[in-house]
Amino acid sequence: MEKRIVVFGSLNVDFVVTTEKRPGPGETVTGRSFRIHPGGKGANQAVAAARAGGTVSMVGRVGQDGFSDVLRRSLSGSGVRQDLVAVTPGSTTGSAFVTVDGTGENSIIVVPGANERVRPEDVDWLSEPLTGASALLLQLEIPFDAVVRAMERSREKGVTVMLDPAPAPEPSHPIPRRVLELVDVIMPNRHEASVLTGREITDVGAAELAALDLLSSGVKRAVVKLGEGGVVCAEKGSVLHVPGYPVRAVDTTAAGDTFAGALAVSLGEGQPLAEACRFANAAAALSVTREGAQPSMPYRSEIDSFMAGHGLWDQTERG
Ligand code: RIB
Repeated sequence: MEKRIVVFGSLNVDFVVTTEKRPGPGETVTGRSFRIHPGGKGANQAVAAARAGGTVSMVGRVGQDGFSDVLRRSLSGSGVRQDLVAVTPGSTTGSAFVTVDGTGENSIIVVPGANERVRPEDVDWLSEPLTGASALLLQLEIPFDAVVRAMERSREKGVTVMLDPAPAPEPSHPIPRRVLELVDVIMPNRHEASVLTGREITDVGAAELAALDLLSSGVKRAVVKLGEGGVVCAEKGSVLHVPGYPVRAVDTTAAGDTFAGALAVSLGEGQPLAEACRFANAAAALSVTREGAQPSMPYRSEIDSFMAGHGLWDQTERG
């Protein structure tokens, strides 16, 4: 089965601090560690998909600085094609300042740098890798007009459009219906689903309603991610809760990106949506047991043996 995946989006260098306690305003605390990791939602999706077994091309922009080497090493180390990652004179590489607390939860400040310089015209770079691809993976860390142009190009080529709507759009700038109609698979987390649908996602039932709202807004398949609670996935005629795998989280950074990359691979292999979600849940679960964005992402053999060790489990389907 074809699992050639193109990722159009952001590349960031992550400056990661771990700390037992987050400082409040005006407070100074002593952290535990500091590390520099390759990250950015786009590059993360690319590495996750490649390690999960996809043939992946990354398209985007980095700055004219030494930080981009961190990203290039990680992409090439995972076998991601990166000749369409352009150096942008006069820009810094995108950067993210990540704080991970004692529970594994993160908070992130992103400085877009070169990611902000991605233009709708850059979509022309996608034409060649999109030919014969199974999916185009997108996120919202590059300008929205470029994301929309990429969706249109992907549609023209008959390639599945997958959108992780992260970071969440401002409620004052919702994603227009005509854009949602270009999306084949949308994968919001609880917060993003709430912004997109106006529903508070408190439990599986609310996530099911949000997923159905998203179908009514024009997307073909909706996957609402509930962290350790798994996902709710919906497509015409079916809404299903696919539970997550219980693991001890040390760092949740890029769990959603890992999920997206693995989901694209599994759908590209022809798996039904629920089965692809189960595979992607396993990849995301493994990623949260390790530190960092790209360094935490599992390889295919790890995902397969993790799933084999956990067997099948309960799924609740509704019509
Ligand atoms: O989704 C995680 C990513 O968000 C981090 O790698 C950071 O770069 C930010 O873009």
